[in-house]
Amino acid sequence: MNIVVVGQGFVGTTVGAGFAEKGNSVTAVENDPERYNLLRQGILPFYEPELEQMVQKNMAEGRLRIVQNTADGIKDPDLEVILLAVGTPPKEDGRPDLKYMEIAAREIAKSLDHHVVIAEKSTVPIRTGEWLKKVLGEHIKCDFDIAACPEFLRESTAVHDFFNPDRIVIGTETEQAYETLRRLYRSIGDNVNILPRMAVGDAEMTKHASNMRLYLELAVTYLMSQTGDALGFNCERVLNAMGMDKRIGPYFKKPGPGAGGFCLRKDLEALISICKDAGVDTGLFEQIIKIDDSQRRYVVDKVEKMLGGDLNGKRVGVLGLSFKKDTSDVRYSPAIEIIQMLQRKGAKIIAYDPKAMNEAKRVLLDVEYCTDAYEVARQSEAIAVLTEWDEFTNLNKMRIRQGTHRIIDARNIFDPAIMKQLGFEYDSLGRPMKSYAA
Ligand code: UGA
Repeated sequence: MNIVVVGQGFVGTTVGAGFAEKGNSVTAVENDPERYNLLRQGILPFYEPELEQMVQKNMAEGRLRIVQNTADGIKDPDLEVILLAVGTPPKEDGRPDLKYMEIAAREIAKSLDHHVVIAEKSTVPIRTGEWLKKVLGEHIKCDFDIAACPEFLRESTAVHDFFNPDRIVIGTETEQAYETLRRLYRSIGDNVNILPRMAVGDAEMTKHASNMRLYLELAVTYLMSQTGDALGFNCERVLNAMGMDKRIGPYFKKPGPGAGGFCLRKDLEALISICKDAGVDTGLFEQIIKIDDSQRRYVVDKVEKMLGGDLNGKRVGVLGLSFKKDTSDVRYSPAIEIIQMLQRKGAKIIAYDPKAMNEAKRVLLDVEYCTDAYEVARQSEAIAVLTEWDEFTNLNKMRIRQGTHRIIDARNIFDPAIMKQLGFEYDSLGRPMKSYAA
């Protein structure tokens, strides 16, 4: 099937290359000149496992074409679907900024000359479909269908998630548009669970509701880690047992320094603003965000406590800058915010991340970057582990110990009993030593 994917961020690139891999003919549009120049050489401006290879392979085999202008992409008379995967960054008040969506819609409207299905792929606020239809309708010369097919990909496992989706959600206004999109998704595999047709707004809300639920799960996990420390139980054992409850599920039960990534917070803030406008009580949603913020401060408190209650002039080592392992993305990364809080308290930061240092350099000031974790240990009075990269889990702890003996493990990647045996002053989340007596 011939499709166009407008916007080559993380979602657009994965979806475009993924559909190409399954034999579709894909034209990928990237307006930004710098990103376009990289992409057409097969280079991704971010790190996502396996994706660059998949882009290169499909470009070489002629199923994936990168263009800079939307108009160039939609000239194809056999084009059936346009997927909109442009960014929807938050405005200052938390509402999503739809300017890139509007630019894309206007460009499509100017050049389109035959019926296609135009589907929202990026995370958009509820009711964007209605707005999109209006913007397109103002200028378009031909008939078109609008649709919403939200993406549930996780950064760091996006390629795997694309080929193994839990479910495909398709919201359309007509049966015909649904059948077209169903055909496209069927190309991923015969066993893919494609849900029956729903309304465009239902599909938009499914995305928001799903992300809110994940974020809620994280808020519970973070609260359990804080309570574990306070009351002397091991939160990981509790969360693991909780996760076996089939009514809820094992996911999002790993304590961390707070939830990062571009979507959970942005989407929940968007949901809050939309619900507020509609007069819905948003207290629970706001509480999720407060708990997430408290978890970041909680880690800062632990670092401060281990260093004697005063961070002024102290050298704090940080392992990990990205918002989780296997991605170079630092947007909303708890590591970045924790570093800034530590700096405000007068700490000097020495940091290392396997993939995210270039991206972090754009947002952080006054950080000394190292070439590996051992160098961080040699330069610091204590280390905070803020991202759970495998490289950190597999560190030679005795070599670390030669640098510093203080570790605050905000990803629970090490075993407290072993760390104690090795002579570390060690703290993690919700696993106080007294809980190990059991
Ligand atoms: C999230 C959702 O998982 C995707 O389904 C969704 O498509 C995506 O947002 C989106 O809306 O685009 P992602 O942002 O890649 O995906 O990140 P997650 O894997 O959900 O992790 C979010 C944060 O929660 C990370 O900082 C991670 O470290 C933290 N986390 C996650 C935990 O602290 N503990 C866990 O058990 C799981």
